[in-house]
Amino acid sequence: MRDVLGFDLVDNKTSFIYLSLSMSYTFSNLDPSLFSQFFTTDFVGAEALTPAEKALIQKAAVKRQNDFSTGRYCAREALGRFGISDAEILMGEVKEPLWPKGFVGSISHSKTLAGAIVAKIDDIAAIGLDIETIGGVSRDTWDMLFVANEQAFLNTLDDNEQALFATLIFSFKEAFYKLQYPITKQYLDFKEAELHYADNDFTLRTGLEFDCHKVPAEQLIFKWDRVDDQVIGVCYLPANR
Ligand SMILES: CC(C)(COP(=O)(O)OP(=O)(O)OC[C@H]1O[C@@H](n2cnc3c(N)ncnc32)[C@H](O)[C@@H]1OP(=O)(O)O)[C@@H](O)C(=O)NCCC(=O)NCCS
Repeated sequence: MRDVLGFDLVDNKTSFIYLSLSMSYTFSNLDPSLFSQFFTTDFVGAEALTPAEKALIQKAAVKRQNDFSTGRYCAREALGRFGISDAEILMGEVKEPLWPKGFVGSISHSKTLAGAIVAKIDDIAAIGLDIETIGGVSRDTWDMLFVANEQAFLNTLDDNEQALFATLIFSFKEAFYKLQYPITKQYLDFKEAELHYADNDFTLRTGLEFDCHKVPAEQLIFKWDRVDDQVIGVCYLPANR
């Protein structure tokens, strides 16, 4: 679903002026009572950052600064909808975003779209978001990214579906990596996770190396959407209540 104006941001003057020039997007597959999200196609610069955030990327190239700034901007907007104003989102040891206490979240930026999704940790134990350009995962990378079952599934599809699902499975793997890292502090190779598609749903299996007690694969929920040539993968783990 697209909306040219940031319809629910009229009480925030700065955001409204900014969004009136851009396209925003809402991921319709997420329960709005649990998740807050903000996506935009209009990238901002380092002026959107706090001084401490700016210091993290001051030596980076302009594109990286804009990606980082727009991600932070989206994250602040998403947190704002939970009543957290002006949150500062610093960076962990492997560049993972550090969320305000009591919240989990994830950030992604592609060439044309950036976004962030946040939730209260009492509701959602972890979340990963990843945006990719459809067709960006070429066949010559499959052996590096996909296990045999995933490749067999992709080989059943026609060319268009193959481009979409190869990108989507890649996106889910990156989303899953972002979800699990804050919990396990573990790097995962792409072939340590296997996505399985059946009945319009994805499920995930992980390799033996992965600590499945901390992130039970069978409880993960995968959602996705497509905006023009972008695919958005979201993976989350509901909290144990
Ligand atoms: C870290 C990684 C997942 C980022 O994905 P990407 O497609 O390159 O870039 P995206 O724009 O989607 O995401 C970047 C954001 O991810 C977040 N991020 C980076 N490292 C992270 C981590 N370890 N944990 C959680 N989030 C992380 C950051 O917010 C970053 O944006 P920022 O630097 O502006 O804050 C990717 O570069 C990577 O290293 N992948 C290899 C590991 C992997 O995915 N394995 C698959 C396991 S099945």
